[in-house]
Amino acid sequence: MPVSSAASQLSVSRLRCEGQEAATAIDAPEPQFSWRLDSADDERGVRQTAYQLRVTQLNATGQPVGDPVISERVASDLNRWVTLPDFTAKPRTHYLWQVRVWDNLGGDSGWSDPASFETGLMTSVWPASWVGDGRIVGRGDAPAARYFRTVFSTAEKPVRARLYLSAFGLVEPWINGQRATDDCFLPGWPDYRERVFYVAYDVTDLITAGENVLGLILGEGWYSSTLMRGFQFGNEPHVSFLLELTGADGESTAIVPDEDVQIATGPILANSIYYGETFDARLDDVNWSRVAGSDWNWEPAVLRPDNRIPVMSRLSPPVRRIEELKPVAREEREPGVFVFDFGQNMVGWTRLQVRAPAGTKITLRFAEMLEPDGTLHTDNLRTARATADYIVSGDGIETWEPRFTFFGFRYVEVTGLPNVSDDLLTGVVLHSDLARRGEFECSAPLLNQLYHNTLWGQKGNFLEVPTDCPQRDERLGWTGDAQIFSNTALYNMDAGNFYRQWLYGLRDGYRPGANGGYPDVAPDIRLRYGSAGWGDAGVIIPWVTWVHTGDLRVLEENFASIQEWIALQETQAFDGIRRSPESYGDWLSPGFPRGKAPPPYELIATAYFARTLDLAARIAEVLGRDDVAARNRALLERVKAAFQREYIALDGRITTDMQTAYLLALGFDLVTEEQRPLLKQHLLRTIAQKDDHLSTGFLGTPLLLPVLADLGETDLAYTILQQESYPGWLFSVKNGATTIWERWNSWTPEEGFNREGMNSFNHYAYGSVVEWFYDTIAGLRPDPSAPGWKRFAIAPRPGGGLTHAAASVETPHGKAASSWRIADGELHVDVEVPANTEADVSLPAPAIAAVTEGGRALAQVGAISGPRADGGFVTFTLGSGRYQFVIAAN
Ligand code: BGC
Repeated sequence: MPVSSAASQLSVSRLRCEGQEAATAIDAPEPQFSWRLDSADDERGVRQTAYQLRVTQLNATGQPVGDPVISERVASDLNRWVTLPDFTAKPRTHYLWQVRVWDNLGGDSGWSDPASFETGLMTSVWPASWVGDGRIVGRGDAPAARYFRTVFSTAEKPVRARLYLSAFGLVEPWINGQRATDDCFLPGWPDYRERVFYVAYDVTDLITAGENVLGLILGEGWYSSTLMRGFQFGNEPHVSFLLELTGADGESTAIVPDEDVQIATGPILANSIYYGETFDARLDDVNWSRVAGSDWNWEPAVLRPDNRIPVMSRLSPPVRRIEELKPVAREEREPGVFVFDFGQNMVGWTRLQVRAPAGTKITLRFAEMLEPDGTLHTDNLRTARATADYIVSGDGIETWEPRFTFFGFRYVEVTGLPNVSDDLLTGVVLHSDLARRGEFECSAPLLNQLYHNTLWGQKGNFLEVPTDCPQRDERLGWTGDAQIFSNTALYNMDAGNFYRQWLYGLRDGYRPGANGGYPDVAPDIRLRYGSAGWGDAGVIIPWVTWVHTGDLRVLEENFASIQEWIALQETQAFDGIRRSPESYGDWLSPGFPRGKAPPPYELIATAYFARTLDLAARIAEVLGRDDVAARNRALLERVKAAFQREYIALDGRITTDMQTAYLLALGFDLVTEEQRPLLKQHLLRTIAQKDDHLSTGFLGTPLLLPVLADLGETDLAYTILQQESYPGWLFSVKNGATTIWERWNSWTPEEGFNREGMNSFNHYAYGSVVEWFYDTIAGLRPDPSAPGWKRFAIAPRPGGGLTHAAASVETPHGKAASSWRIADGELHVDVEVPANTEADVSLPAPAIAAVTEGGRALAQVGAISGPRADGGFVTFTLGSGRYQFVIAAN
């Protein structure tokens, strides 16, 4: 309800087309627009009452073409994913768009500043031939990268030039001696059997009148590098481009690959993802992509007109250089062997800056940990060579970064130089360039470090796809890891388009048939299919993404394969128990040898079947498919009944008397109301038996604290969370971790490194606990009934001896924040609710009268409605604004 009658100071910001800022290759013919309302700091209860959109087409010189398309004034509070009726975008066209909004306080934003977007090719048929070198990349090979060169001329400098680029492999574009973009790992990592991505760049400034050169460096990337278990997506890397030049007269010329494209081997002598890269700077020539030309052995490239794999514009921001780290320490371990310590387990590479005699070979080896004797710990890299070699040209100060590989490391060993200085190496942190959304901080330094470690786990493993780990011969889009971490990930970063894009790869890998299902890894490298808790990512991630973003397409696009997955599981569950080939179970549960993780696989598979049925039913409802929803729900009831019959004894005991079994039953709501308290007692007992420690693997762990909090056992949840001894989250923190370890005991003081080769020190999976920091400690939680944080909960649950905690989330509507502190026995809770949203607040207080806001009773605060006291909590609904609550000491 409005609290002020004066016209509000309303403006809009954060204009996004298809969720992207200044997009260059939108392929949606009816693009969706989003914006944010900004109201004055002291305003409360602001809601959008209407909006109007305007789109203007521009010509090549940036002048408007024809009349803009303007919508009616639409009475609506929608400010996300809105289309403009009567507007259909044309391919390869530049547009400006604006929005104007009105609010319930009489505010009128006026037209916003224009935001720009450009459309892409808008076809899945790539319009040009491809070029390669005609050679086969053998399994295990790390070949030389290929350099391509195309000379073209244009009488006048074009007023507009756009480079559309695609590759089977990874490509770096150059024009006239300059890199055309700083983006890395282009055009990304799809399932190459089904599609390939393309990217588009504005290269107008790089093109001159007369002769020009387009140069491309093509590396193996995820396409022809040999991945885990010898898998290669393909072995003939090739690339293509469409360079569209438009003159002042509006006429366009297309430069595409033809017989004149030349190819040579340049200074990159070896490259592949796990191998690393070798660069011989003596062979480099700045003129290779200039008109002057280099004297490399240029030959005609091999034209490949035959490739008909569909192309698709990227949805996710690409990988970029995001930040830089300086070494914090350096040691000369033996003469000429230097170990640099970056103080943080990070992912990316190093920039080398060196002056040395020509021919000096510098070798950089990367590792996450050191052995007790100070040498690199490389056992956990398994077969990944993870090494960069640079051969010095001798030409002054030389600077070099690899291109087609990356490393997971904290330590770098340098050999080949007699002495080094600190500025030899700079750590370059690479990841998909997703905007940061969440922040968290509290009074417990170890929890802050755990939060930090999780965030770095996400940075390191959000490199084009959500990977399990960044260092060993794996680095794959493991679906189980991805699904358990997805909620945390979406709090931390704006990962909506990232997941939407990755889900294309997940669906591409779906294997139909009785033993099929979603792949364990996406893009799919032909491991297993249909594993419980892994394959379910195909249902869980669309749901979680939609809850955080409100982008309905992520549900629409996945609906059919979700139902295929449900149907497959149904055939495996004739009596309600899902009996499918055994897979990972509660992976890496402490105390069990690798892969052997009770509870029984069938129990886990049945529990997850129920979980996905529940989500699939909700998804069907959202999409208006009530028939499908009803079928899913009916099946869910059968599966629940089977679970209860098969696994839960009369006294509430589950046959495998382990935490994860109880957590799955309670967390996925598989129990009757009568069983709930009985199972609770068993869960509490299995925790007590472990001396208030967790005893869970990948699937049980994310459920532990949420289930305990739901059962009213928040104190116990805090106790387990803050255990510093094994097994628990803070064990690695106490032992110096700067990222999340793969195992609860990846390293112990008694045994040192875990003897299993599979032992990553940067595996985000157990970082899934951070969702609890946001949604329970600070209490910020999106409400699926109004997705995209249109409505959300603020229900902080202080405890664990913390004296304060604070979290904020840059929601699609603006900042949502909740912070609390305990002072003189009073609980102070400050909250922020963005304009055009509402929050359901729940504060720990015995009675309404115990709570004040800004020194006033709740009843006197306009933007608060429906306060109630119940069971130790005071709840009410809150309109937008900033509020300061105080809960009196009892
Ligand atoms: C990966 C995972 C993955 C698991 C499957 C491992 O090699 O690193 O984290 O989920 O295999 O069991």
